[in-house]
Amino acid sequence: MTTPGLPEAAARIRGAEHIVVLTGAGVSAESGVPTFRGTTGLWKSFRPEELATPGAFVRDPRLVWEWYGWRRALIAECDPNPAHRALAELALDRNGRCTIVTQNVDGLHHAAAREVARLREVPPDPAYPLEVHGAIHRDRCSACSTVDETPAPVDGTSELGLPTCPDCGALMRPDVVWFGEPLDPDTLDGAMTAARTADVCLVVGTSALVHPAASVPTVTAAAGGAVIEVNLEPTPLSGHADVSLLGPAGDILPRLLESAG
Ligand code: OAD
Repeated sequence: MTTPGLPEAAARIRGAEHIVVLTGAGVSAESGVPTFRGTTGLWKSFRPEELATPGAFVRDPRLVWEWYGWRRALIAECDPNPAHRALAELALDRNGRCTIVTQNVDGLHHAAAREVARLREVPPDPAYPLEVHGAIHRDRCSACSTVDETPAPVDGTSELGLPTCPDCGALMRPDVVWFGEPLDPDTLDGAMTAARTADVCLVVGTSALVHPAASVPTVTAAAGGAVIEVNLEPTPLSGHADVSLLGPAGDILPRLLESAG
């Protein structure tokens, strides 16, 4: 199958010294993880913007935990797809000259990188990828800095089932960034530094609406780099992209990156 723009995109990637990749929910859609916008993002008729906020957690922590419990269980059944694996291979091949920035909290980039490193018999990079919106499988305290890397499953059907902090007794919450909250400054700084120094920004499966993550491609473009977009459909970014590749990431990315060599 031919995809218009793919040879040009491959040539730009081949010629790039540094690459930054920004991914969103679309990169995990073919693994079975629902995206946020559109009908698959709804849960019990709530939109993510109604539940993924500090205010929602204060008002009804049980409801927020019930939603996250549902998402954790769903993600636990999902495996990385060819798009995650192609990006993990790109990062390994480029050995420090490719930074993957993800808005996803599902851990599938990390899982793909572990798989690829095992196959190549090299140690996985523990800092891969830059997860600017956090990680859904971790808990953190809503009041102090305690983090639980391996929490027990949460029973979100009852207030009594909600986890509390072993250090201060406050409610634990998922270790993700909610609407209205700042991103971790070091992670954001890493993403923006990579965006500024990249010759190419590859943007995959994001509606490019939620800032500051959505600024990664505009920072690359402002510094003179090229923007390549991979998405099922045009987005607000498409008009500013140098190349726009329309189609599923799990199909396009392996072909694009193989063709880039
Ligand atoms: P969205 O749900 O807004 O957008 C998903 C994008 O992926 C859309 O543009 C789809 O067209 C595209 N897409 C779907 N399936 C695809 C496929 N197989 N291949 C390629 N593209 C595909 O998700 P995000 O842009 O990631 O933030 O949303 C950004 C942030 O908003 C999320 O990180 C989350 C959310 O609310 C927080 O929770 C803070």
